[in-house]
Formats: sequence, C-alpha cells, structure tokens
Amino acid sequence: MNNIRFGAGIVGTGSFLPDKVYDNKYFEKIIDTNDEWIVSRTGIKERRVADNGIATSDLATKAALSALKDAGKTPEEIDMIIVATITPDSAFPSTACIVQKNIGAFNACAFDLEAACTGFMYALTIAEQFIKTGFHKNILVIGAETLSTILDYTDRNTCVLFGDGAGAVVVSRVKEGNGIISSYLGADGRGGDLLMVPGGGSRMPATAQTFNDKMHFIKMDGREVFKFAIKIMGEAAEKALEVAGLAKEDIDFLIPHQANSRIIDAAARRLKISSDKVFINVEKYGNISAASIPVALDEANKMNLLREGNVVVLVGFGGGLTWGSCVLKWVKTGGRIDD
Ligand code: ACO
Repeated sequence: MNNIRFGAGIVGTGSFLPDKVYDNKYFEKIIDTNDEWIVSRTGIKERRVADNGIATSDLATKAALSALKDAGKTPEEIDMIIVATITPDSAFPSTACIVQKNIGAFNACAFDLEAACTGFMYALTIAEQFIKTGFHKNILVIGAETLSTILDYTDRNTCVLFGDGAGAVVVSRVKEGNGIISSYLGADGRGGDLLMVPGGGSRMPATAQTFNDKMHFIKMDGREVFKFAIKIMGEAAEKALEVAGLAKEDIDFLIPHQANSRIIDAAARRLKISSDKVFINVEKYGNISAASIPVALDEANKMNLLREGNVVVLVGFGGGLTWGSCVLKWVKTGGRIDD
C-alpha cells in the first residue's frame, strides 16, 4: 500500500457469443408462441446458444482473453478473477479457477459469485473495493452463462427469454476522480421464490424424481418479476447517481441489464433520458443474466460510443431478488495509470 490516491476503472472490455442462433421462428416450431408475441412483449428477436459440451468456462475464457487484449494487460498481471454466473461448469471447482488455468493467470486468486442477473454488478463492486484499498492492481471481472443448459424448452414462459454468452472487463487503478465513482447494491430474499432453479442443491438434491419433475430448470413468475424490475431499475440508478453527487441530466450513457426492452424503456422514462443515450442489444441475445451488462458494455465500447470522461450508468436486477448499479467516469488513455 502507498500514499498515492487513485480510482478503480474499467480499462478493457471483451465478450464472446456462441455462433448458433435460435430466432423466434425456431420457437414457433417447438412451442405455442409466435414472433409477434415475443417481440412485442420482450423486444427479443434472437438469442445465441452454445453447442452441447460447451461449458460456461469456455465462453468466459474467450471473453477474458479479449478483455485482457483490449486492456493491454498480460494474464500474469491479474491479481483476482471473479466469475459471476448461475450456470457454473459444476458445483466445484469454481468456474473462475478453470478460467485461471485456461488463461494462465497463476498470480490471481479466483472465485465465483452468484447474484443471478445482478452478478456482474456485485462482482464489479467487489473489484472496485479491492482496487481502491490498494490491495490489488488488476482484476478480471467476468459475467458468463450457458442458460440454455437450465431452460425447459417446453415452457414458453421462460425458454424464449434467455440465451448464452460471456462478457469481461479488466478493472485497474486509474487517476483519482476517474472510473467507478459510486456503486449501490441491494437484495430482498423475500422474493427469492419468484425466480429460481429449485433442484440440484442441498434442499432438493438431484434424484430421478427431481429430474422427471423438471426441477433443474428455471422457474419464474414473469409478471411479478416484471413489476419488481420496472420499479427497481430506475430506483437503483438514481441511488448510485445520488451517491456520486450527480443528476439524471449528467448521464451520457445508460447500459442496463438486457432482460426486456419494456423494462429498459420504463427505466429510461424514469431517468428522463432520451433513447439515444440508452444502449440496447436485447433483440440479438435475449437475457444472458450475469453476462448481459458486460456484453452490452463491450459492444458500446467497441462501437466507440463511450468517450473519455463520459458519465456511464450501469444498472441491473435479478433473482434473489437482487439489484445493483454504478456510475462510471469512462476511462480512455487520459485517465489510465500504467505501471
Ligand atoms: N408466447 C405466447 N404466449 C406466452 C408466452 C410466449 N412465449 N409466454 C407466456 N405467454 C402467455 C402466458 O401463458 C399468459 O397467458 P394467459 O394470460 O392466457 O395465462 C400470457 O402470455 C402472459 O401475459 P402477461 O403476464 O401479461 O405477459 P407480460 O406482458 O407480463 O410478459 C414476460 C411476460 C415477457 C415474461 C414479462 O412478464 C417479463 O419480461 N417479466 C420479467 C422477466 C425477467 O426479466 N426475468 C429475468 C430476471 S433476471 C434473472 O435473474 C435471471
């Protein structure tokens, strides 16, 4: 630890999406649904699906390598790897340890974090703390999911909504006043039943019965989750702005969790920001849970939409129930500290 003060900023982004596409027409063939219903209720047109045998760590590894390249960092420089996921390769070892091995980041500690779709926001906030205390210099934060492995493709209420993919960022020391200005996390376990995978844990270990009852798939009360999401997205973004001492008018870019375009529109309305300031890619990927925000952030970054010093708000919600947001002052070369 030294006396030099610094911030914690995202200095590189990366993502990886599997090639296979399931469009809405695909679902018209297997369940009672149609393209018009899915697009009008969710904004989703297609989603990516990993091939059989591809695990979350495979996607996470590719996203991580892409983020390292973008940041100009080597795997040896990484002090910590956090993988946010609800679809780990297995109960243990952690997916983060598998990624560590795959990329050769042997100076890093590694662990998984589970906060459903809010997982990336929780992981980013943990990284922020470790960087700001001076304990670590470079942290790889990954959101990665193979949700296709926990979807019931006979349940029209859920299977059209989700997809697979991975996004990653490198969080490093940046000049004071840059990078993550504020963050805000919340949870309400009373709503846990609204969105869950009931089977396969210690409460309901895997048996032939749980398999037959489809207990290893996502179960969701869509209407209740929708109501919660509409309320919490705007509220969480406002909290992070308040902590940062900024106003809604200061937002240059909103990068929200991509679950449903109607939920995103409601958040934008509450924050009174125009649609050109809101990044949306839900039509291409559906909801990729913990991967959603980092994939969107990587796309916005690679499209050169984010300028040095831009005020960027990230906000997400998910199972748990959980929510989280942060305000960033976007860092390009000017705000970086490279040592
Ligand atoms: N195709 C056709 N009809 C459908 C489909 C479908 N794919 N899915 C549901 N329906 C039907 C239902 O059976 C129901 O019919 P009924 O009224 O005859 O019973 C009706 O459509 C449901 O209508 P609503 O509940 O009014 O639909 P709504 O406008 O709420 O949209 C949706 C449903 C899209 C699920 C919405 O509620 C939603 O987006 N909820 C939030 C989901 C979400 O974001 N989850 C992720 C959380 S993040 C995480 O941690 C993973």
